[in-house]
Amino acid sequence: MPTIPTQAGTVFSFSAEQQQQLYLIIKHHAGILPSSDVATLCQQHDQPVDAILRACLPIAAQFAVAPISQFFVGAIVCGLDSQGEQHFYFGANVEFAQQALSLVVHAEQSAINNAWLNGAKKIIKIAISDAPCGYCRQFMNELADAQSFDILLPKQQFKLADLLPYAFGPNDLGNPYSLFNPAPQQHQFVATAELDKILLSCALSAYVPYSENYSAVKISTFANGDFYGRYAENAAYSPSLSPLQSAISQLHLAGLAMTKDVVKGIELVQTQGKENQLMVSQAVLASYTDLPALQSISLAVKPVAI
Ligand code: THU
Ligand code: ZN
Repeated sequence: MPTIPTQAGTVFSFSAEQQQQLYLIIKHHAGILPSSDVATLCQQHDQPVDAILRACLPIAAQFAVAPISQFFVGAIVCGLDSQGEQHFYFGANVEFAQQALSLVVHAEQSAINNAWLNGAKKIIKIAISDAPCGYCRQFMNELADAQSFDILLPKQQFKLADLLPYAFGPNDLGNPYSLFNPAPQQHQFVATAELDKILLSCALSAYVPYSENYSAVKISTFANGDFYGRYAENAAYSPSLSPLQSAISQLHLAGLAMTKDVVKGIELVQTQGKENQLMVSQAVLASYTDLPALQSISLAVKPVAI
């Protein structure tokens, strides 16, 4: 029987001015509120972590880019890094004007992707400004901590099993691994001389148990550095997050836009013989005007020598 959701009943919220200050701090850290800031906020406001987490949701929603729905969703992963430090990893939905609705990045995907790319090792809680849709429940079911993390809505708290009973997941496809608990790295690229090493290692650490297309995207900017994304697959396939969606979401979490004044170049690296990202990346990019052309690179992989 599903557990009965608890009514947390917290009413703590930040003032508009505090929200604006925090927005700038999070933007400065490209979508992260570091553990020291979380601890300071708890102390300053004499509130538990959950209350601070929920109060940050309207700030997360400020990062949303929703030209179709104008419905701004915020999500935040409360996760532990390799030192056991607890950070907030923000996320927000990203829509692509004049493209298929199915290409949208959901806020939950954005936050989980942000935590994953930034080295979170364990997910403790996921807070969301609105009820998670079925697609996101499925996306969350790919996570190593799917049975344990708490899902916090503004006034309720759940376990994923409450929201997704009789779930379909990695095990149903014979995959013993999960997002945040991947297979040991078994592949390397052949011949990579002049390519960006970060992009390549990003591609090799993609979570691709179903297609084996180790793939990543780099969006380089004129003035704000590079943003990387990597492929995160899902056992139900459709909720998978493409490397381009992953990189675009990261760029937005730094408060930047996909415009020609910002974006200097876009590179996609894929595994030769497994390429499945070119067409979908072009469809996503067709949403923007005047961006530099996508550079697509296919690379052969070979097993890592033991
Ligand atoms: N949305 C999310 O980000 N998460 C959910 O689980 C519910 C829906 C977004 C997707 C789309 O951008 C907008 O809300 C309307 O569905
Ligand atoms: Zn969703």
